[in-house]
Amino acid sequence: MYDGEPLPGRNDECWCGSGRKYKKCHIDFDERLELLYEQGFEVPPRSLLKSHKDIEGIKKSAIVNIGVLDYVAERIGPGVTTGEIDRWVHNYTVEHGAVPAPLDYEGFPKSVCTSINEVVCHGIPSDDEVLAEGDIVNVDCSTILDGYFSDSSRMFCIGEVDPEKKRLVEVTKESIDKALSQVKPWGLLGDVGHVVNEFAKEHGYSVVREFGGHGIGIEFHEDPFVSFVAKPNTGMVLVPGLVFTIEPMINAGKPEIDMSDPNGWTVRTKDGSATAQWEIQLAVTEDGYELLSW
Ligand code: MF3
Ligand code: CO
Repeated sequence: MYDGEPLPGRNDECWCGSGRKYKKCHIDFDERLELLYEQGFEVPPRSLLKSHKDIEGIKKSAIVNIGVLDYVAERIGPGVTTGEIDRWVHNYTVEHGAVPAPLDYEGFPKSVCTSINEVVCHGIPSDDEVLAEGDIVNVDCSTILDGYFSDSSRMFCIGEVDPEKKRLVEVTKESIDKALSQVKPWGLLGDVGHVVNEFAKEHGYSVVREFGGHGIGIEFHEDPFVSFVAKPNTGMVLVPGLVFTIEPMINAGKPEIDMSDPNGWTVRTKDGSATAQWEIQLAVTEDGYELLSW
């Protein structure tokens, strides 16, 4: 079998948790996936696929995650410190019965990542870091509610931002739409990443290679890794029930990054150029996709 796990008998209950008989539920799905597996495609193990109940749980988590980002959007501006943003995120999340996923994740010290200008990702909020007119900042929120994970991030332009930086922010946002145009059941994940890279290059930008999107739901970071420099016609087969993020990091300059910050987290562009990122979370469905968090 494509994932090494046994299949139910035709009249047994389906593995997906629908309560229906296997022959009336995922039997055709499994046959199609098995065929692709035999042809050498990378197919998701069933352990990655989310049931309807899981997706309902992830959506509830995502409602909090979207709410946090909306809350930040209403308040962010010149003079705000990233330490304040961290407290907003922490308090909002906890008040909604949830837990901020970044806090203590592999030792990360705060509840949100805030990444300004040339910081690619994983910026650590601080009371000493004041947002100034002209900054661009990514606020990356992740939430755990009843064991379900959600994750999305947005860019914010602080006051008047120079047109070049603004364009980077807008092109990066648009690259998500390009990626989404490739998300369909039985499509390939490599096509999702490839169109982002092509779009970034058309605008004279480059895409960070070391970081990407990820499966998510039961854990913060699950398979697959979602590369935005992937080759077309490669990568995991997309099937209903797969939940992952699309979160390209696009640099105005060269793609190389600098991970030498002694805090062990803050990632910068090597050439000091500005960088932008947006992140959404989605589920692949029978006829396309459903956005879960943004
Ligand atoms: N939110 C990031 C992502 O999109 C992960 C941050 S890990 C942290 O995958 F520890 F820095 F919070
Ligand atoms: Co993510």
